[in-house]
Amino acid sequence: MKSFRKALVTGASSGLGRAICQELAARGAEVIACARREEQLEELAEELRALGASARAEPLDVTSPEAVREVFARASADGPLDLVLAGAGVAEHSVEASDRAARTRQLLDVNLAGAVTTIEAGVAAVLRTGGTVGVLSSLAGTRGLPGAAAYCASKAAISTYVEARQVELRGRPVQLVDIQPGFVRTPMTAPNRFPMPFLMDVEAAARRTVDGLEAGRSVVRYPRRLAWPLRLLAGGLPRSVWRRLLQGDRRASQPDRP
Ligand SMILES: NC(=O)c1ccc[n+]([C@@H]2O[C@H](COP(=O)([O-])OP(=O)(O)OC[C@H]3O[C@@H](n4cnc5c(N)ncnc54)[C@H](OP(=O)(O)O)[C@@H]3O)[C@@H](O)[C@H]2O)c1
Repeated sequence: MKSFRKALVTGASSGLGRAICQELAARGAEVIACARREEQLEELAEELRALGASARAEPLDVTSPEAVREVFARASADGPLDLVLAGAGVAEHSVEASDRAARTRQLLDVNLAGAVTTIEAGVAAVLRTGGTVGVLSSLAGTRGLPGAAAYCASKAAISTYVEARQVELRGRPVQLVDIQPGFVRTPMTAPNRFPMPFLMDVEAAARRTVDGLEAGRSVVRYPRRLAWPLRLLAGGLPRSVWRRLLQGDRRASQPDRP
């Protein structure tokens, strides 16, 4: 079991990323908290420092490769990182563009391109001294869900990307970890009006995430009660059966956005 000395986390201003920073700090790591909303980050860093941890805020938009480069340079200047977690993400309902294609581009810019930029900056940062790079993908990447077409596609894409990179990086001192949570109670899921089976508290999800990163597993799926049936049943289920199963789902009967 590893324990981390110095971690950089994106998506740290809210939800799962914030709770993961709290969990890492409680386990003794120095935390560099990144996201766009500076006030929330400063509040978190202050809270962690008050508990005796070492923490600082680094405002960052992951869709800007230059900004990512600068933040990683600053983060590594006073000692190497040994954990990078690409947690920044957006849901379908939080992108504003007027049509589906534009919304999908916006979402992919954060959930896929932004995650890849962070992962690759993380790999470069930890390669020399060794470390772990994780990404928050999702069990939603297992199959397409109505109402979340672009989101599911983005999560399937980042998981596939990580799977390929894990092979390419074999034998190098970097552990790439694909974290696939189910439903977690965060600001992202708060507006959902459909049933969310096995909805988890954010603290429990953060513990599962850090446990998986410390264990150096290549894929971390939770909760198991949702992950296993989804993989065993849905993964091998013909598309026609999957469609019929979801046609009764409330998400499928929601008014379609353009
Ligand atoms: N909640 C769930 O059920 C669930 C399940 C599976 C996977 N996930 C994944 O877990 C991650 C965290 O989700 P959450 O539920 O905690 O959602 P959340 O509370 O909405 O947090 C999303 C985080 O991403 C940051 N973010 C968004 N766009 C960004 C950008 N361009 N640059 C930098 N940071 C950005 C947000 O901060 P700013 O707005 O301050 O930038 C925020 O800190 C996401 O990748 C999500 O897809 C969530």
